[in-house]
This record gives sequence, structure tokens and C-alpha cells, in this order.
Amino acid sequence: MTATEGSATGGARRWLPDGPDLIVASDNLEAIAALPPASFTLIYLDPPFNTGRSQQRQGVTTVASAGGSRVGFKGRRYESVKTTLYGYDDRFVDYWEFLEPRLVEAWRLLDDRGTLYLHLDYREVHYAKVALDALFGRECFLNEIVWAYDYGARTKRRWPSKHDTILVYVKNPDAYHFDAEAVDREPYMAPGLVTPEKAARGKLPTDVWWHTIVSPTGREKTGYATQKPEGVLRRIVQASSAPGDWVLDFFAGSGTTGAVAAALGRRFVMVDSNPQAIEVMRRRLPAASVIDELVTADAEKPGVVSA
Ligand SMILES: C[S@@+](CC[C@H](N)C(=O)[O-])C[C@H]1O[C@@H](n2cnc3c(N)ncnc32)[C@H](O)[C@@H]1O
Repeated sequence: MTATEGSATGGARRWLPDGPDLIVASDNLEAIAALPPASFTLIYLDPPFNTGRSQQRQGVTTVASAGGSRVGFKGRRYESVKTTLYGYDDRFVDYWEFLEPRLVEAWRLLDDRGTLYLHLDYREVHYAKVALDALFGRECFLNEIVWAYDYGARTKRRWPSKHDTILVYVKNPDAYHFDAEAVDREPYMAPGLVTPEKAARGKLPTDVWWHTIVSPTGREKTGYATQKPEGVLRRIVQASSAPGDWVLDFFAGSGTTGAVAAALGRRFVMVDSNPQAIEVMRRRLPAASVIDELVTADAEKPGVVSA
């Protein structure tokens, strides 16, 4: 099947600003290369920690050994033994070789009002900040959001780690969209210290967000292991896009970004390479078109519907 229409499934399609919301079952780098520049006002990315290709570089060292096969100075015998070196470094290099070209594409795809939210944890976030400073420019850094939750076991060997970090960068620091008035307000911690009017209105969230993880028994739960809560995405979509704007998530997983975007009247493109994620999104976002290839205008093939 090469043609897709309405909410049809499979095939190839060109993204158009007045076309349908899309779920794309594909490797993301390949898919997003087909999207035109400056088409999205908001990009949210929640990449996996690992690329799935954790490498271990094999090192070799020489030790003295009576039965060794190599003869050296004064007839001493030596043996080469294998050691494992740089396991962590290899994973790091591998991860950033994977992520960096995708961040370059994210920059290309943001429009002048656009904002990138990159969701990571303590393992990679410091490298990501250096990479994004270089890619976007330090003047384009907007925030480092700490999402704090309280769930799971607590180690007694160090402070239990119970937060993720979301880095926020804008394409143009003089033109970016940020609507604080559109964001759901939260209760004051000490409502007795402010006027009753202020207490009733609540306060604007800061860069530290206390929010529960997706409840294992709640309405939101899709069963997708790394699903993020709609409440976290709602703030992001409310603040950094307007109704009608296009939102992109190319590590879409269960499609939380798409679900929130649709509920708030935004348009979306969700990309994921995992067939289970596509099945979850198909159920969660029934009005979207599900395709397995995004094509450019130039590469449009006969039979591909482009409007
Ligand atoms: C941490 S999960 C995202 C969870 C999502 N935020 C949610 O709320 O459900 C990361 C996702 O990236 C997808 N992914 C990893 N590498 C990918 C690639 N190269 N292309 C497309 N998707 C990829 C995985 O299949 C996984 O669903």
C-alpha cells in the first residue's frame, strides 16, 4: 500500500500545514529529514537513556606469566590478557552519536517562535546542556526544569534520585512564544500567607514541578513502560504553543504529547520506531493518520496523497 488518506493506516505521506495529524512508524532521523524547516512551534523529546547498542571496547594488557607465549627481556615470559576498558565512555560516545544529529534536526524544524524541551535525567543532562549551548547558542537557553516525583525504592547509600531534568531552549530569544497566562496555576504551599483572592487564583508554577508519575491504576495509564504524565506535558504545551500550532515529538512512545496537543487544539506529528508504541498511539489518538514513511515534496511518488 502506498497511498494514505484521512485516518488510513500505512504507506507514505507528505506533511502539510493543513494536512492531518500524523503518527509515523519509522526511525526518527529518517522520518524527520523529510519535514520542511521551521514547521513546528514546539518540540518535546524524551529519548531513551541508551541507544540499545551499548558497546564495550576491548583493551589488551601484558602481564608476566611463567607459561606465557611471548619471550621478553632476560628470557622472561609474558602473556597478553584481555581487559575491558572505557565501557562507560563507549556508551557515552555511542549515545551522543545517536542523539546529536537528532538535536540538529530539532533546531532546523523549529520556527522562529519555537521551543525545544529535552527531557533527560542526571546521567546525560550536563552533556546535553553543553551540546545545546553549542547548537542553539547560550542566549537561547530558557530554563532547566526539575520534575520531582516520589515513587519507588529509596537507597540508603546516597540521596535517592527522584527527579528528571527538562532543558528548554528557544530558536530565537527575541521572538519565542511563552504564554504564562495560559498555564494551569497551582495551589500556594502556604495559602495563609497570601490574600484570599491570590490563594483562590493559585500561583504560576516555577521551574520545579512536583508531579506524580503516571498512576499504575489511573485513567491515563496505557501500559507503555516509559509513559510520562499528561500534567507535565500540559504545562509545556500550554506555555510554549498556541491553538493551531504544530507540535512534534519524535520519541513519542505512548503519544502523551499528541494526546495533550489534541486536547488543547494543537496539531501534531508523533514518530516512534517501536511497533508497540504505534499500537498504543493508534488507540490513544484515533483521529490521526498512521503512516510508515514521511516523504518530501520532491520525493513524492505516484499514488501518495499529499493533501
Ligand atoms: C522514553 S520513551 C518516550 C515515552 C513518551 N514520552 C511517553 O510519554 O510515552 C522513548 C521512545 O523513543 C523511541 N525510540 C528510540 N529510538 C528511536 C528511533 N531511533 N526512532 C524512533 N523512535 C525511537 C522508543 O521506541 C521509545 O518509545
